[in-house]
Amino acid sequence: MTATLPTPADLSITPRDRRFGRDATVRRLWHGGRVEATAIYNALSTTFPVGEAFFVESVRKFRDEAPPRLAEEIKAFTTQEAIHSREHDAFNKRAAKAGYDLSKLEAQVEKRLAVTRSRPPIVSLAATMALEHFTAILAHQLLANPKHLAGGDVETADLWRWHACEEIEHKGVAYDTWLHATRDWPRFKRWKVKAKVMLFITRNFVVDRTAGALELMRQDGITGLDAWRRLLWYLWVRPGMFRMIAGAWFRFFLPGFHPWNEDDRDLLRAYDLGARSVAQPKRKVRRAA
Ligand SMILES: [Fe+2]
Ligand SMILES: [Fe+2]
Repeated sequence: MTATLPTPADLSITPRDRRFGRDATVRRLWHGGRVEATAIYNALSTTFPVGEAFFVESVRKFRDEAPPRLAEEIKAFTTQEAIHSREHDAFNKRAAKAGYDLSKLEAQVEKRLAVTRSRPPIVSLAATMALEHFTAILAHQLLANPKHLAGGDVETADLWRWHACEEIEHKGVAYDTWLHATRDWPRFKRWKVKAKVMLFITRNFVVDRTAGALELMRQDGITGLDAWRRLLWYLWVRPGMFRMIAGAWFRFFLPGFHPWNEDDRDLLRAYDLGARSVAQPKRKVRRAA
């Protein structure tokens, strides 16, 4: 029932075509000198260039059948994700230049995506819809709680805030595309597939990002129990990002869930106000085809 979608009627998805850190050399431990904090953000960033290209490819396959407003939103979504891929690719190159070998992490992402791509397009759309919920709740937490990026190098922290802002702004697009694509499915089938995909995605997300962060920590000489203790403390206790998103993650399974049941555009307005105070050269925003 696409007529009842709660995406705000006045929502505008506006790509902010910004560039980060092109002239800077990134400090290896850019997150306040902390190995585990740098490792988990770097592990996440490693997934974005190919991961977000996959999101774009998955949602675009359904654009032609989408109603006009959703089709427009898909267009803006693909533009935002394409720019995120570009900026995280540049960031990952700087991390590699700082000495990290990201190849194992990149190979793992490719492996996961190859499995999903071998299934019908609706599976890729469902995986994208679930991962977009993940990115939206991480993004909300990142902007709502300054603890997460406290101590990080200014420009790199800004890259993460900018990305978080746009993830919130387009958080309903993959979900609405999924609702439209499955509009003729029985309610229970829709819920069952959505729930199964989310559980599968969550398992892979937690396992892969933890393994990725541990691999990067190993490259900084932190291994074994010490590495596990530091990383688990950081993710689950203080600042505890995974613990803090648990409630929002769970709401995905409730009847009537929609990403915009929580209207958190106040975070976007606050980000945009802050970003405007940082001098940025005016650039023409390239739209996706
Ligand atoms: Fe993104
Ligand atoms: Fe996204």
